[in-house]
Amino acid sequence: MKINHPLMKNNFTRSDMNAVKKIINVKNLILTQSKNVRQFEKKWSKWLGVKYSTFVNSGSSANFITLSILKILNKNKKKNEIIVPTLTWIADISSVIMNGFKPIFVDINFENLSMNVDQVLKKISKKTLAVFMTHAQGFNGLNEKLIKNLKRKKIHLIEDVCESHGAKFANKKLGTFGLISNFSFYYAHHLTTIEGGMVCTNNKRVYELSRILRSHGMLRESGNKSFENKIKNKYRNLSPQFIFLYPTFNFRNTEIGAVIGLNQLKQLNKNNSIRSKNFKLFLKLIDGKKYWKNFDIEGNSNYAFPIILRTKNIKKRDLFEKKLKEKGIEFRRGNAGGGNQLRQPYLKKFSKSLNLKKYKNVDHIHFFGYYIGNYPVLKKTKIIAIVNILNNIKI
Ligand SMILES: Cc1ncc(COP(=O)(O)O)c(C=O)c1O
Repeated sequence: MKINHPLMKNNFTRSDMNAVKKIINVKNLILTQSKNVRQFEKKWSKWLGVKYSTFVNSGSSANFITLSILKILNKNKKKNEIIVPTLTWIADISSVIMNGFKPIFVDINFENLSMNVDQVLKKISKKTLAVFMTHAQGFNGLNEKLIKNLKRKKIHLIEDVCESHGAKFANKKLGTFGLISNFSFYYAHHLTTIEGGMVCTNNKRVYELSRILRSHGMLRESGNKSFENKIKNKYRNLSPQFIFLYPTFNFRNTEIGAVIGLNQLKQLNKNNSIRSKNFKLFLKLIDGKKYWKNFDIEGNSNYAFPIILRTKNIKKRDLFEKKLKEKGIEFRRGNAGGGNQLRQPYLKKFSKSLNLKKYKNVDHIHFFGYYIGNYPVLKKTKIIAIVNILNNIKI
């Protein structure tokens, strides 16, 4: 019998729809970025614990804007390397390449699916501008050693928290440690605005740049009047309304996205605590002989349940997939973003000179790693039934 377990369920609620209805029931309706966007940014900053946030139309856009900011701030052109994980979303690496930097790849740990910190430290060179950490699938990727070393070496830490809203390190939310952090509000994540993302920072200059880069590179978006006046005086032959400072695009979101975000934010902590409870139950019940169990769960906040098979046998893996399909349990192979990025066609130019054998853990995830859904309306009885199925597969 099928049990039907999707990756995500009811993430957009009736209450969100009602919040949208409220704002569309007014005269002279204008739904482009305005006061609700500002309000959502303010409330999100407060929830996260940062000074500034910029609401954009996706997590990928947040990644792109972030790397464009690094490019603008990077006066020392000799620093052109960004250390990235091999297990992440494509945008984390394409944003690096598209902004003219060289990605330096690092293997991951099974414990937290994030970059191996010792390898990060080994790969730091005179050319390293930043470490672009992905906190994968709800786990914290930071430790004291990394933070201390980056501080000492004056290397930027950038955090991608697109998959880990509410997760913590040392009791402090992820996304508050780096110079810049990114969030995604795609439907599948902890909080959704249908599509959407956020660029967060405590640095005023970074914030101003994020606003400019979100909106065509326009000076008038900076929010800093004295800076704007200075530039206007410098370019007197340009229309003050149309001064484009940097090459970029339009990454704005809308008032509709913002009211959904504001409404969703009210439920986020509660939903995350249900997800954490679900996660613990999955982990307690799953068979450690067949599946990896030693996750580092301190401060975790998982929107999914990761499954790493212990077997390295492709036939057994295929049997695992067949059983899940038969039972209607939706899954994704390769955990976050389709597994080992070095195997993806878009990275051919960079990966052909690398020895894939040096990236063993990510390669195991690539072939034998999965995730299934973990959402707030998931019931205890269903988790028990799902794990029963998993534990009875002959792998
Ligand atoms: C780690 C990570 N970064 C960035 C993104 C991109 O976010 P979006 O889908 O909102 O563009 C995702 C998407 O799921 C992601 O998992």
